[in-house]
Amino acid sequence: MTSLLNSDTDTWAPFVQAIEAELNAHRDRALLEDAGDQAFATSHAPCQPWCRERVVEWLSFQTYYEYQAILFISKWLQSTPELDALVLLCQQIEDEGNHFYWLNQHLEQLGAKLADWQPLPEIVDWVETYYGNLPDTISRLAAHNLAGESGACRSFASIAPFLPEDLQKTMRRIMPDEQFHLRLGRRILSKYCVTDEQKARARQCALEVSRLETRAIQAFNRKLAAIAP
Ligand SMILES: [Fe+2]
Ligand SMILES: [Fe+2]
Repeated sequence: MTSLLNSDTDTWAPFVQAIEAELNAHRDRALLEDAGDQAFATSHAPCQPWCRERVVEWLSFQTYYEYQAILFISKWLQSTPELDALVLLCQQIEDEGNHFYWLNQHLEQLGAKLADWQPLPEIVDWVETYYGNLPDTISRLAAHNLAGESGACRSFASIAPFLPEDLQKTMRRIMPDEQFHLRLGRRILSKYCVTDEQKARARQCALEVSRLETRAIQAFNRKLAAIAP
């Protein structure tokens, strides 16, 4: 769903670009520090497809994330006075609903149920507690759309080679939507972050996500690594 944003003409403010560069630097550093602890994404390792159990674990997390995105974004709508942001977030909920539906179908085809899966506490802190309690549009879009969506795209790129082909195909269908969510974040932040305080708040929320996300992904990687590849 991209009808309200034209990627060809989309531009965003220098402070947003600076936040994204800072996020990328943080993630590169975390990846290096975590390299010895990774269950995947080591560039020298040959890409063996994961076993069913590991695919189910990863897919359960992805399906949970899409489901939670529907919940926290729909909660945000109750306090979004910026009407252009409101309409874009409605489109985003429709996308996240599709993503949830498609991934949940894969999960069911593998004989698993989301209801049987428990997120790690570090994942709950990041996804449900942090995203779910952000107070305004600037904080929410800096945290989830700018930091969270770019992290999701990055993470999928590193994991894709280990997934079954049909699931890779679904993820390739999802990624353009996540890019749209990232672009809508850039657009809305560029428009509504006017003062230095607002820009600093956007940066602080995006960097907090990078911290929470790194902590959660490290814990999740340890869980994945304990499952036979
Ligand atoms: Fe999604
Ligand atoms: Fe998204």
